[in-house]
Amino acid sequence: MKNTYNLRSIAAKAITQVLDQGQSLSTIIPELQQRVSDKDKALLQELCFGVMRVLPQLEWFINQLMAKPLKGKQRIFHYLIMVGIYQLIYTRIPAHAALAETVNGAIDLKRPQLKGLINGVLRQFQRQQQELVERANNHINQYLHPKWLLERIQKAYPQSWQNIVDTNNQKPPMWLRVNQLHHTANEYLTLLKEANIEAELDTSHPSAARLLTPCPVNVLPGFDQGWVTIQDRSAQGCAELLNPCNGESILDLCAAPGGKTTHILEIAPKSKVLAIDIDTQRIKRVKENLQRLNLHAVVKTGDGRLPHEWAADEQFDRILLDAPCSATGVIRRHPDIKWLRRNEDIDQLVILQSDILEAIWPYLKKNGTLVYATCSILPEENSEQIQSFLERHTDATLSETGTLENPGIQIIPEAIGGDGFFYARLTKQ
Ligand SMILES: C[S@@+](CC[C@H](N)C(=O)[O-])C[C@H]1O[C@@H](n2cnc3c(N)ncnc32)[C@H](O)[C@@H]1O
Repeated sequence: MKNTYNLRSIAAKAITQVLDQGQSLSTIIPELQQRVSDKDKALLQELCFGVMRVLPQLEWFINQLMAKPLKGKQRIFHYLIMVGIYQLIYTRIPAHAALAETVNGAIDLKRPQLKGLINGVLRQFQRQQQELVERANNHINQYLHPKWLLERIQKAYPQSWQNIVDTNNQKPPMWLRVNQLHHTANEYLTLLKEANIEAELDTSHPSAARLLTPCPVNVLPGFDQGWVTIQDRSAQGCAELLNPCNGESILDLCAAPGGKTTHILEIAPKSKVLAIDIDTQRIKRVKENLQRLNLHAVVKTGDGRLPHEWAADEQFDRILLDAPCSATGVIRRHPDIKWLRRNEDIDQLVILQSDILEAIWPYLKKNGTLVYATCSILPEENSEQIQSFLERHTDATLSETGTLENPGIQIIPEAIGGDGFFYARLTKQ
């Protein structure tokens, strides 16, 4: 049966929502994927994420090919042309099909009169592709990052910034977290083999397995029964470092969509977990994830800066604060971050993280453990944040994760390794 939608126009709409309306792909894509066939879900993702990955390059090509850029109400066709060029360079879709489908996107977007223009630009690109690609390498910032972000990464990592930036521009590996309440990682590896899915285990994280080739979740053995969760191996380090125990009361703050809430409960299923997040929509996903894994926690919407509103007088044995951050450690998974974040956001985030830490510290019991985590690679949000907290709080000491000079574990993204992450573990004296 022929599709009743045009996938390229859906991709162009998503890109418009990101670049012109400031929405994130991870919010938009799941809903758009509901409208397309299973076969097209992966392609929609590839087109949208791919365009974000190489945006400055596509922008440069269009500038070379068109005298005047499409603006205002026609801006969406600018993004449709990007989708077309992206397919010609980066996918194996036969050029004639990529062109025809992209041009037909104009009909779907109710501007059939623009078909000729779009067709002309794409054909001109096709004719000059090799020359344009070569010239682009000399003309555009080959790192494909905004200047402010590149400068911050270079300043923080004078030796390794180039590796970080290269990794950010690659496609991410797919990591699984095996639910050890059902199987050991080794047992699950056997189930994967039986399903013809190649994977390898990780020596430093007991539940982590990396798929050699990413695949849709519905082909993973027992996904619906909660045998396994998609979670990067660095993210798995948070609950491991928290080291929750059965019987303890645990606060998972900034919990949505619940990746770490469920991990805490897989490690300590008889712990009493309170999961809090400020975002009502995202909180729904915590509940869905708990349900899929058949785990139980109290889940509430709340602001981490105002714990008296949701914690009453309760104190916790352990707190995981997975703080809102720049997400600069997960750019390869969310390449739209490069264009959504602004330099000024970083200072705002540092204040928000510090405010949440201050507010929550009194809610940790004496001898209790707090793990502060971010998926950022910027020192302002990580080591400097914890240093300044330790200076203000003489009853806080570091345990296991370093010295005052270097008060946490900073992971930088690695090609087939984990995402960029930071964790520090504090104990209350
Ligand atoms: C890094 S994400 C959390 C990921 C989650 N821990 C997991 O493992 O699935 C950060 C979260 O902080 C939440 N957040 C932002 N500001 C907050 C605040 N003031 N209080 C509580 N949550 C907040 C966001 O809604 C977002 O869900």
